[in-house]
Amino acid sequence: TRISLIGAPTDIGAGSRGASMGPEALRVAQIASALEGRGLEVLDRGNLTGPNNPWLPPVDGYRHLAEVTAWNQSLHDAVYAELQLGRLPIVLGGDHCLGIGSISAVARHCRDTGKKLRVLWLDAHADFNTNTLTPSGNIHGMPVACLCGHGPQQLIEIGGHVPAISPKWVRQIGIRSVDEGEKRFVHEQDLEVFDMRYIDEMGMRAAMELALALTDANTHLHVSFDVDFLDPDIAPGVGTTVRGGPNYREAQLCMEMIADTGRLASLDVMELNPALDERNRTALVAVDLIESLFGKSTLMRK
Ligand code: ARG
Ligand code: MN
Ligand code: MN
Ligand code: MN
Repeated sequence: TRISLIGAPTDIGAGSRGASMGPEALRVAQIASALEGRGLEVLDRGNLTGPNNPWLPPVDGYRHLAEVTAWNQSLHDAVYAELQLGRLPIVLGGDHCLGIGSISAVARHCRDTGKKLRVLWLDAHADFNTNTLTPSGNIHGMPVACLCGHGPQQLIEIGGHVPAISPKWVRQIGIRSVDEGEKRFVHEQDLEVFDMRYIDEMGMRAAMELALALTDANTHLHVSFDVDFLDPDIAPGVGTTVRGGPNYREAQLCMEMIADTGRLASLDVMELNPALDERNRTALVAVDLIESLFGKSTLMRK
């Protein structure tokens, strides 16, 4: 596998500043050499550029819509280009609004190649808000809805096919904070959610077995890893911490079970906020988990 790292240094869709420093924090935590240690070829494509964060209030329920569109269009093009080269893109975010550009590119590539897309959304949040449902106007709370065709024209049409994906292709894991209107919409659109209640009762193993059940040889598996998926005890460096997330062992198992499928074909690492971190420990735990996602394990597996 040949990997391409794509930095997207922006916090344009977030409610606090600092995720723009995420790509460099992941590099400082040695993401490239960790992947090379897995026997993978890694090319760091450097950082995309885009508009600065003007830090303005929402307009029509969207904060920074024009800037969010510019960043996502540029990320879409970059991710799509890597996939066309037969490479595995890893997006170093950046806030989670960038899931729109990344996953619309993956969906377009799957349409080109006849692959079946599965999106694993690892997050404390469903990110399924619309401009009428959102309590904040922050577009990082809306990428899944936009990808499913519910959002402003300029965001839903990135990638040239509306909707970019079907809610049926998405599996959400670790969810524990969903806004009131957003809850109704998740239910109405029938998103498959393995929330923390489910993980408490059934365990991470059962959740992942079901989330990965329909993964086969023709599946392109995309993982969108919002670092706030993790319990804040192990990952304090994010803007929207929610207590009661997966602990270190649960997160490892989640990553290892994804690796076991052998179908991982693209990855987002989002919402890491070094301004809120302690000595880069959240970046370090993210890199540690990413090694497991690419097959690192204690013993040889058959
Ligand atoms: N649901 C909240 C909102 O819409 C928080 C979203 C947090 N999203 C994230 N990608 N961290 O504002
Ligand atoms: Mn491909
Ligand atoms: Mn989140
Ligand atoms: Mn998110």
